Amino acid sequence: MVHEGFCLFFSILFVAHTAYGDVSYSFPEEMKRGYVIGNIAKDLGLDVNRLPSRKARIDAEGNRKRYCDINLNTGELTVAERIDREGLCGKKAACVFNQELVLENPLELHRISLIVEDINDNNPLFGKDVINMEIRESADKGKRFLLEEANDADIGQNSVQSYSIQNNEYFVLSVQSNSLGEKYAEIILKKDLDREQQQEVNLILTAVDGGTPPRSGTVAIHVTVLDANDNAPVFSQDIYKVSLPENSPVDTVVVTVSATDADEGQNGEVMFEFGHVEEDYKHLFYLDRKTGVIRVKGPIDFEEEATFNLRIIAKDGLGLTSYSNVLIGVRDINDNAPIIVVKSLHSPIPENALPGTEVGIINVQDRDSDNNGQVRCSIQQNVPFKLVPSIKNYYSLVTTGELDRELLSDYNITITATDEGSPPLSSTKNIHLTVADVNDNPPVFRDQNYRANVQENNKPGSSICSVSATDPDWRQNGTVVYSLLSSDVSGAPVSSFLSINGDTGVIHAVRSFDYEQLKSFKVLVLARDNGSPSLSSNVTVSVFITDENDNSPQILYPSLEGNSFMTEMVPKAAQARSLVSKVIAVDADSGQNAWLSYHIVKATDPGLFTIGVHSGEIRTQRDISESDSMKQNLIVSVRDNGQPSLSATCALYLLISDNLAEVPELKDMSRDESSSKLTFYLIIALVSVSTFFLTFIIIILAVRFCRRRKPRLLFDGAVAIPSAYLPPNYAEVEGAGTLRSTYNYDAYLTTGSRTSDFKFVRSYNEGTLTADLTLKKTQSAVDDLEGLDAEMSDSFQALFSKKIT
Ligand SMILES: *[C@@H]1O[C@H](CO)[C@@H](O)[C@H](O)[C@H]1NC(C)=O
Ligand SMILES: *[C@@H]1O[C@H](CO)[C@@H](O)[C@H](O)[C@H]1NC(C)=O
Ligand SMILES: *[C@@H]1O[C@H](CO)[C@@H](O)[C@H](O)[C@H]1NC(C)=O
Repeated sequence: MVHEGFCLFFSILFVAHTAYGDVSYSFPEEMKRGYVIGNIAKDLGLDVNRLPSRKARIDAEGNRKRYCDINLNTGELTVAERIDREGLCGKKAACVFNQELVLENPLELHRISLIVEDINDNNPLFGKDVINMEIRESADKGKRFLLEEANDADIGQNSVQSYSIQNNEYFVLSVQSNSLGEKYAEIILKKDLDREQQQEVNLILTAVDGGTPPRSGTVAIHVTVLDANDNAPVFSQDIYKVSLPENSPVDTVVVTVSATDADEGQNGEVMFEFGHVEEDYKHLFYLDRKTGVIRVKGPIDFEEEATFNLRIIAKDGLGLTSYSNVLIGVRDINDNAPIIVVKSLHSPIPENALPGTEVGIINVQDRDSDNNGQVRCSIQQNVPFKLVPSIKNYYSLVTTGELDRELLSDYNITITATDEGSPPLSSTKNIHLTVADVNDNPPVFRDQNYRANVQENNKPGSSICSVSATDPDWRQNGTVVYSLLSSDVSGAPVSSFLSINGDTGVIHAVRSFDYEQLKSFKVLVLARDNGSPSLSSNVTVSVFITDENDNSPQILYPSLEGNSFMTEMVPKAAQARSLVSKVIAVDADSGQNAWLSYHIVKATDPGLFTIGVHSGEIRTQRDISESDSMKQNLIVSVRDNGQPSLSATCALYLLISDNLAEVPELKDMSRDESSSKLTFYLIIALVSVSTFFLTFIIIILAVRFCRRRKPRLLFDGAVAIPSAYLPPNYAEVEGAGTLRSTYNYDAYLTTGSRTSDFKFVRSYNEGTLTADLTLKKTQSAVDDLEGLDAEMSDSFQALFSKKIT
């Protein structure tokens, strides 16, 4: 209202000034219809009463719009149409338009200048609802950004006078005026933008005009913060620690590194690559540039490298980088078997090495660590060796027992080493050990004693037996050489009897033996090996010379010596079976060869006398009668049982008489008959020998059968024969012979000739051929032969003399 009053005052002043025909009025725009602008009649000095008659009216110049009207009753000029200053004049500082007052009778034309005054009826207006701005986050502080101005249709004071924005942390407002006095606004960056923190800033800008009351208009300012590459990538961890089993297959994912970049777009695109990493590592690991996945690319061997430090770079699009480390700890896997190294080996080992001798040194290695590298070492059970743990991974191989090359000359020792990994790995090594020979075995003869039987009269140089000894030692330590140990046999060196082949052990006779001279002897044969020192052993070889029938029976009685015939007296009263005489013969041979049989080959009266086949006793066959011739001649043949048999004959002269004076008459009685009928008797003898032999066999068989029941009697019918008749070697029906199975004296002696000269032999046999003779006993028997011989002779003598008495 104050303002309106002020205008009125102003317009009155103005009317006074235009007193000549034209009037002008000034009034505010937007007045209501009928609003009285002024009393134009009065201002022009017109008569109000005449106005209707003069047809007063308002016209617009040309055909413009008529905004005013005149009240004909009062002469007041009123508003006829809405008057909008902004519509009529826009931004013109003074808004004036003309209307005309037309009067008729007389025609009068008055120009009316209407000055429209502005009122604040328009708000400041912005061109759009939102001002969109893009500011890069890297924009400097203090940078200004011009804002679109607001437009206010009003003018002057009513136009935009000031701007404001609400308080915010990034921008302040600065309002400036240009040379025309127009106001415009800028925002000034007062704090660095950070897209990563705030991607957009929204502000409300308010424009206020100077009207009363003031009006305002607002616009939203939308500031989009544009990205700048101001952020480096950031790894999710400073250090990536991972554990990776060794021997992981290619393409195994080790770890995935990741980095974020707060920037966007290209600025936020992160690529990975290896930083300063040993060239070798790049062959083992592969880094995916985009995903950051690290994979195994090559063989990972704990024993080569147990840890890896990989420096990884993350880089964004425009090259901001950051670093991280990947620490890879490789876990050991039991992938290395132990290795057995023989550091030294003493082979061959002498077989006399003491138990505990060190034979070799073994070293065991395992490249794995911890338990995977803990190794146990062993060898098989059945060898005389053991492993003794020594310093660290060293073992000594020592013997645990005696070695014997002759039993086992080499050993295959298997060393097994096993580690403690799971699963454990093991390896083996074979060692070949040989045992060296030591001369520790003497030669050993195959038999405990040897006996050789040699037929007497052998050829010198013939082999009689062979000995053999073995020595299990090696080469010369086991090579056997034979020799005879020098000794005397019957006063002569043994070398004059025998020789031995040193290599073969074959014993040869050097001379021809004579059983009757030497029946047995013993030699020691030495077997010696070639070792140094050498070992030897000896064995007894008993040589028995066997008899050959090379001696014919020797008749002791009746003696053939001298020319005088031995004449036996036969009493005329002699009855049948009375003993008349006895032929005594011996044979230097022995056994069969000395077994004599007696036969009458020729007799004066063949029916009168008989001779005991084995006893040589001549008995009457019947009583002597008066008619028998007084002189009786007998030719007796004594035969041994050798092959061929040898014999001797003798003549016996018997005188049947009680008177010795008749004897000389007998002197020539044998001569005529004996020579003439000799051939005849010989034939008879041959025949009788043959038949005798047959019956002899039969008797043997019969006697063998009967023998068990019959008690044996010694010397039951012995004849007193002076011991002087025995030849010196008769008693020595050699002990050696009694031991031989080929001579069964027992059988021969049971043929009924218990009274024969062999009785002592028989008793001797019984004493030595006991049923359970052991070898040892036999041995000792042989050894004691000489002693026995002597003993037998004594007992024989004793028995004999006992019988005589
Ligand atoms: C040791 O092994 C070898 C061959 O490997 C074999 O000829 C020899 O008989 C073996 N010796 C023993 C004592 O096992
Ligand atoms: C025989 O034995 C001796 C030790 O008694 C030894 O030194 C030698 O090497 C052996 N000879 C052979 C051929 O083994
Ligand atoms: C023969 O061997 C025995 C042991 O078997 C021994 O006592 C003796 O001395 C040896 N004789 C000789 C002459 O070597």
